[in-house]
Amino acid sequence: MKLIPYILALSMAALCSNVMSEEVAEKKSAEGKRAWNEMNKEQQTALDAKADLENGLEVYEVCSACHMPEGWGMENGTFPLLAGQHRSVLIKQLADIRALNRDNPTMYPFALPESIGDAQALADVTAYITTLPMNPNNGVGPGDNLEHGKKLYDENCVKCHGDNGQGSSEKFYPRIQAQHYKYMLRQFEWIRDGKRRNANPDMVKQIKGFTNKDMVAVIDYVSRLKPPKEDLAAPNWQNPDFDD
Ligand code: HEC
Ligand code: HEC
Repeated sequence: MKLIPYILALSMAALCSNVMSEEVAEKKSAEGKRAWNEMNKEQQTALDAKADLENGLEVYEVCSACHMPEGWGMENGTFPLLAGQHRSVLIKQLADIRALNRDNPTMYPFALPESIGDAQALADVTAYITTLPMNPNNGVGPGDNLEHGKKLYDENCVKCHGDNGQGSSEKFYPRIQAQHYKYMLRQFEWIRDGKRRNANPDMVKQIKGFTNKDMVAVIDYVSRLKPPKEDLAAPNWQNPDFDD
């Protein structure tokens, strides 16, 4: 007779754990959906902070060792162009790198709060970077398959990166105009092959069928997209803030 409540209790427990595991699964999948750009607290604080450009320049001095005083990076793709990038994207990428959500062993020690400061430093340095004009002579690809590149771009990339590679500040989609070919090639391959952990899952899905040849063609095409003239520096411009 004592068996019935026992069985009842057991089945109640089973039911509960079913409900519970469903709840956990739901939460996890919601987290999965949010995970790409789940505002980490630092990112939101930096976006909301009032920026101090003078401190931004001071912080940027560390960055300039690799990204160069002009923020133009290097044509060989080691260091990306930062000038002209949407501030929201700069903040997201920095916060991701600090949170170890995007691997960047070269830069990591220089980007830590102990080296440059808290969320306010991110607000300041990114505000400073947005004052820099863009590189008029970024590195481009071989240029031998551009028609195929354009077709791939129009079909697969426009909806996020825009018809001219301008991206979207509001949606945290990077501007890819004037970025160095070799840097983009590396990032694109990492995103396709799942090595860039903070990558947008919809982009990963969109490019999963790309062969290496497709990848070269589309990035070559992107490397030739030109920002509006007023965003570009004069050809031999040097950052006057770094004059001695
Ligand atoms: C020791 C060299 C080094 C220093 C110093 C450095 N960076 Fe970087 N940074 C890199 C490298 C290398 C990458 C690209 C990593 C990759 O290939 O994924 C990068 C990437 C970035 C990106 C991502 C760009 C993109 O298009 O997604 C941002 C933003 C950035 N750095 C900002 C900064 C800022 C701001 C500072 C100064 C506080 C700084 N970096 C200091 C080497 C450096
Ligand atoms: C669903 C929207 C979406 C689509 C479609 C998409 N991208 Fe992206 N792309 C993004 C986002 C968002 C990032 C930044 C990911 C992150 O947060 O690190 C990115 C990053 C990149 C980067 C690295 C930029 C940098 O500064 O590090 C390149 C290059 C790139 N995309 C090229 C392309 C090309 C070429 C296509 C089409 C073949 C494409 N993307 C399709 C959203 C998209």
